[in-house]
Amino acid sequence: MSGFRHRHVLGLEGWSRDDVLQVLDRAERFHALNEGVVKKSPSLRGRTVINMFLEPSTRTRTSFELAAKRLGADAINFTPSQSSTVKGETLLDTARNLQAMHPDVIVLRHSASGAAASIARHVEAAIINAGDGTHEHPSQGLLDCATIRRHKRPGARDLAGLTVAICGDLAHSRVARSDVHGLGILGAKVRCAAPRTMIPVGFEALGCEVFDRVEPAVEGADVVIMLRIQKERAQGPSLYPNNREYSRYFGLGPRLLELLADDAIVMHPGPVNRGLELDPRIADGPRSVILDQVTWGVAVRMALLELLAGDGSVAAP
Ligand code: NCD
Repeated sequence: MSGFRHRHVLGLEGWSRDDVLQVLDRAERFHALNEGVVKKSPSLRGRTVINMFLEPSTRTRTSFELAAKRLGADAINFTPSQSSTVKGETLLDTARNLQAMHPDVIVLRHSASGAAASIARHVEAAIINAGDGTHEHPSQGLLDCATIRRHKRPGARDLAGLTVAICGDLAHSRVARSDVHGLGILGAKVRCAAPRTMIPVGFEALGCEVFDRVEPAVEGADVVIMLRIQKERAQGPSLYPNNREYSRYFGLGPRLLELLADDAIVMHPGPVNRGLELDPRIADGPRSVILDQVTWGVAVRMALLELLAGDGSVAAP
């Protein structure tokens, strides 16, 4: 029995320490498996996973597909440009029709906050939120925790004693929200920084310190997570004067790197706007664990799929 108490993975808000640790501990095993020659553990043989990505994705979609296949499940990618969504079908109708084919898991990315929670009420399949608007991206939050644990607290279970800075477009980042929840649950101290125009009202209530300058956030930090400016989500006038100013005051370059702890690591969920929020020398430098995050992404998604759809999964409401 997995004993996992969630039927869907919609967000990390409200998760317990044990929920997060169950995923991370299982992911450690899959991470080791994925480093071997035969990357298969067919515990989801006979199960079906549908990837329903209604927004662009490189890492998340590929890694969910790979994760499902490495577990022996049938994985289908639903491509919006070739589907009836372009003919005006609603999300709920699409989801109900996919449900009629009896998938075990639907992985959904959608531009509307709350989209995953809303279809979870209408289908029997387990829903994994792969990013809903500006709300949450729980598998990214978990893979970030897994990456940090491996690099900064090897052998430990939680992240107590670490300081993590999250810098950039807090207003539009679902990654930031899931990271703040996940990191806080595991005992890390979280500081967030953004230009004032990109700090949502009440953001500190999520459980972090909030700064309108980067320096106090990154000072002595063990980990810094840089966020992409999500221009596609911003409506109305630009939230910052121009790219040059943004990269000068909020981009991570050699000047800010000096302020971090000596052995600090640098992370980014991708895709990186090179030269804007992150200096390419740092993105490709020795502190960067950005590609490791991608590697952990597969292991964490294998863990989530197995906990939701494996033999031992419990279907609590
Ligand atoms: C993120 C997303 O889509 O929220 N990407 C990802 O899943 N790695 C972050 C981003 O788009 O900037």
